[in-house]
Amino acid sequence: MGETQNLHLPLRTRSSLKKPLLIVLLICITSVLLICTYMYPQHSVKSPACEGLSSRGCQAALSGWLDVHVRKHTDEEVAARVVIRDILRMPPALTSRSKIAFMFLSPGTLPFEKLWDKFLQGQEGRFSIYIHPSRLRPVHISRHFSDREIHSDHVTWGRISMVDAERRLLANALEDPDNQHFVLLSESCIPLHTFDYTYRYLIHGNVSFIDSFEDPGPHGTGRHMDHMLPEIPRQDFRKGAQWFTMKRQHALIVMADNLYYSKFRQYCRPGVEANKNCIADEHYLPTFFHMLDPGGISNWSVTYVDWSERRWHPKTYRARDISLKFLKNITSDDMSVHVTSVGKRGDELHWPCTWNGIRRPCYLFARKFHSDSVNKLVRLFPNYTSTVV
Ligand SMILES: *[C@@H]1O[C@H](CO)[C@@H](O)[C@H](O)[C@H]1NC(C)=O
Ligand SMILES: *[C@@H]1O[C@H](CO)[C@@H](O)[C@H](O)[C@H]1NC(C)=O
Ligand SMILES: *[C@@H]1O[C@H](CO)[C@@H](O)[C@H](O)[C@H]1NC(C)=O
Ligand SMILES: *[C@@H]1O[C@H](CO)[C@@H](O)[C@H](O)[C@H]1NC(C)=O
Repeated sequence: MGETQNLHLPLRTRSSLKKPLLIVLLICITSVLLICTYMYPQHSVKSPACEGLSSRGCQAALSGWLDVHVRKHTDEEVAARVVIRDILRMPPALTSRSKIAFMFLSPGTLPFEKLWDKFLQGQEGRFSIYIHPSRLRPVHISRHFSDREIHSDHVTWGRISMVDAERRLLANALEDPDNQHFVLLSESCIPLHTFDYTYRYLIHGNVSFIDSFEDPGPHGTGRHMDHMLPEIPRQDFRKGAQWFTMKRQHALIVMADNLYYSKFRQYCRPGVEANKNCIADEHYLPTFFHMLDPGGISNWSVTYVDWSERRWHPKTYRARDISLKFLKNITSDDMSVHVTSVGKRGDELHWPCTWNGIRRPCYLFARKFHSDSVNKLVRLFPNYTSTVV
């Protein structure tokens, strides 16, 4: 017995050593295979995306790719995305009754009603007006504007209450099924073209005119916070002017969104993190549309504004600053300008404006105009809007 045991011992030892070795070997092969399948697509993205990029840019590109392709969406994201995708697939319902909703976000009285009245003359049935007066009840001089106030609330510049007012305007304007395009305007905005030109540009244009660009500086991506993760990756954070125009489908997805809106309501405000002054209306829609329908937006705003003075607020034009030459200049401008917060003066980004693939003037509206310019603008209106492009 003892001998047999002794005889068998080396054999048993050999076989008991061999089994775990085989298992370890199998595990190794499986792991290598798994790593290979995981790495392969990453590699195929890496080579074109990373050529000529710094390693940091390359890492950002890769983490963006990983975020989209590897990170599992949360339950809320799956739910939000499926609703949004189906709304975007609905064909636009354009009819001869289609209207443009002009939505005015204003503290009170609209100083340019007289000019807008001229713009809207003879166009009954092709537009609707909505006014969100956030402080005082407006006094009207145009019948198109009387009794067009919606239920409103206070608005604080830079806070989520600004986005809430925009959503309130959209919700009210969506109640009319004939409204097919939605334009957000302020009390200091003026029209730059005839109604017909504006109507055709918006109703027959194939995108929503929502401003969205990447500003790598402190007042752009620098305002992103880790609290916004994982739903809002840093590389998808965008900036843009709040003055949008959007198609009905896009207005509907803004109404349907609670997930991304909640993130901005909670974290895009001053005081969440030191030195980060996130301004909700400058980031929510630009980021939301960049993430959910990047091909459906123009990326520039059709509302002209002059930031050339590089101050906190844009230039306000007074009557003495306005001439026919100046107005013709902005109505025919076909290069959009974006200013980033990189460096001391910021970088300027210039893109040509295209409408359904054709080079066209960028601007339908302009701001900011001082109320003292209204009579001069009314007088010049037939002249500066006469250019048909
Ligand atoms: C807007 O920018 C996105 C990238 O963020 C791009 O996919 C889209 O084509 C741009 N839109 C237009 C009209 O160029
Ligand atoms: C006209 O536009 C050009 C280019 O945008 C600008 O350089 C020029 O100063 C403008 N002229 C007036 C009178 O505003
Ligand atoms: C808009 O039209 C242009 C030119 O035909 C085309 O290149 C572009 O893809 C279209 N965009 C959408 C969102 O349909
Ligand atoms: C505006 O146009 C009208 C008609 O074409 C013309 O008589 C008038 O002189 C123009 N006004 C200015 C300021 O150019």
